[in-house]
Amino acid sequence: MKKGKKLYEGKAKIIYASSDKNLVIQYFKDDATAFNNQKKSTIEGKGVLNNRISEYILSNLSQIGIKNHLVKRLNMREQLIKLVEIIPIEFVVRNVATGSLTKRLGIEDGTILKEPLIEYCLKDDDLGDPLIAEDHIYAFDWASKKEIEKVKKMILRINDFMIGMFRGVGIKLIDFKLEFGRIKINGKNEVILADEISPDTCRLWDSVTEKKLDKDRFRKDLGDLIPAYTEVAKRLGILHEQSNVTAVNVTKLSSIKKKNK
Ligand code: TMP
Ligand code: ASP
Repeated sequence: MKKGKKLYEGKAKIIYASSDKNLVIQYFKDDATAFNNQKKSTIEGKGVLNNRISEYILSNLSQIGIKNHLVKRLNMREQLIKLVEIIPIEFVVRNVATGSLTKRLGIEDGTILKEPLIEYCLKDDDLGDPLIAEDHIYAFDWASKKEIEKVKKMILRINDFMIGMFRGVGIKLIDFKLEFGRIKINGKNEVILADEISPDTCRLWDSVTEKKLDKDRFRKDLGDLIPAYTEVAKRLGILHEQSNVTAVNVTKLSSIKKKNK
């Protein structure tokens, strides 16, 4: 698949055109940002791990009938994805209260929620992705009621699946963020899952120790982000390399292999 011109650059990914007008290439950068870009860094190997973890989760979701944008992973940093029109809402799904929810409402950190809580944020960096009510979505035509009903059903299935998947490898799925996009499939308008699902967009705690295995390691200056993401990948059975191989080494190994070809 030939890579075309850059179409869009976000904080953690770049989208390039491909030789097929309905498909684009999603490139995972090593850049990490938090608090709406106020905190920035480059963490070597992060993009490689997120590419693999997101591919794994999205292809598993596809197998349970959750339509999503992933066509295939192309290489260490790129995926071929379907071009969609992104709905300008970040859908945050919470199973345990932490992060902005606890700060905003004074809820005790770690409170287990009776049922999954869905929050909506407007996807607008200049405004700092503000929290909005569902009615704002309809008032300003950001999505239709039909689309949101479909998205909510998908979110609950995605959450159930991901809770089970992570529980099986000793990880608690605390919360995560999803994005959806519009696409025409066989002449029919559909809403499908888009973007990425990775430790950048989820909160993942070790089931026993509650050690954070996600981007909170960067947000809270806890360090060891790559070992944590590598741990998630290994537990999911994605990385089969020896136990001490980090993502950075994986990157280096792949370039050595390429040179030897
Ligand atoms: P929050 O507690 O900071 O609102 O985050 C809730 C979840 O959403 C957490 O898993 C991190 C994820 N998230 C993103 O993926 N991108 C974002 O821009 C924000 C604010 C949160
Ligand atoms: N992704 C957001 C940012 O770059 C916020 C976050 O993930 O904490 O600022």
